Amino acid sequence: ERDGFDHYMLKEIHEQPAALERAINGRITDDNRVHLEEFPPGSFADVGEVHFLSCGTSNHASVYAQQMLRDRGVPAYAFTAGEYATTPAPVSDDTLVVAVTQSGETADTLASLRSANERGARTLAVTNVVGSTAAREADDALFIRAGPEIGVAATKTFSSQVVVLALLVERIVEDVTGEPSAEAEALLSAMRELPSQVDSVVRESTAASLANRYAERAGTFFIGRGVAYPVACEGALKFKEISYEHAEGFAAGELKHGPLALVTPDTPVIGVFSGKHDTKTLNNVEEVRSRGAPVIGVAAETSDHVAGAVDEFLPVPETHPDLSGVLANVQLQLVSYHVADLLDRSIDKPRNLAKSVTVE
Ligand code: M6R
Repeated sequence: ERDGFDHYMLKEIHEQPAALERAINGRITDDNRVHLEEFPPGSFADVGEVHFLSCGTSNHASVYAQQMLRDRGVPAYAFTAGEYATTPAPVSDDTLVVAVTQSGETADTLASLRSANERGARTLAVTNVVGSTAAREADDALFIRAGPEIGVAATKTFSSQVVVLALLVERIVEDVTGEPSAEAEALLSAMRELPSQVDSVVRESTAASLANRYAERAGTFFIGRGVAYPVACEGALKFKEISYEHAEGFAAGELKHGPLALVTPDTPVIGVFSGKHDTKTLNNVEEVRSRGAPVIGVAAETSDHVAGAVDEFLPVPETHPDLSGVLANVQLQLVSYHVADLLDRSIDKPRNLAKSVTVE
């Protein structure tokens, strides 16, 4: 069943190239435009702002899409669903509410989706499960086609969510502004290469030997900006979820507003770089290195400016900056997996956690 892999998580990490092929299959035209069968051009012409509702890993994919929409001039806000269910943001006629949920059954996400439905917002579910409650209750559904995910830790569903949300982002921007975004063609062309690039990260990663050197520290911090910010948060979530070691993800700029007090030579800092705001993140790297913290940089293999400024370097293939987070996240998945394996944790079923959280 696990096809020779020690854990479903590792199997599912390896399944990401195939999952991504399915996610994009038929959704990019020959001239690099978005083609979503469910949403022909103009479907989102009336959208003024976008709210994303989701939990955990799905929330990180939502923040990723939020950053992309904002970069392209469309107001977007990612909310944690549990908060939105009790303290919802006001919606108006032009608000599109997108529930992002792998299972389509997460109680907090369903509660927030219902609140949006009751208040008359237009709703859309982005999910992996056809026929799930979210897919049925939202006005529309868009499927990520990741295939079944057994490990409690979300891996391939995150990658597939980000890619499908990136397609949705480009559809929305084109509909709202009347033309493809300035990034669309390059992004969609790069997206075609993403499955094989993920495959090369999985095959060539040196995360296992790095894990040996950095397991069992006082804490591990993850930082990033722009789309690398939710990837840092996702890296930290995965790390704590399966290794049971303390980890936190921060927006790189926030470090100096408090968390820096925790930084010591025993707290490795993992910096995620998208290629867009690297100089600023490198300033934050300097702040932690001067406190003696070892820094691990995850960036495009061509990023000499990063490689030369960190203690350890985990390279990923060069891609469009807005897709770089998908590749960086695969490195982070492998770091967490190998640390947890080294510590002999229950990787596929971490203590206290369930795959689908059906209570609020
Ligand atoms: O099924 P969902 O995407 O709605 O699940 C939301 C979270 O419970 C989930 O992403 C959780 O954070 C992951 N299992 C963490 O790896």
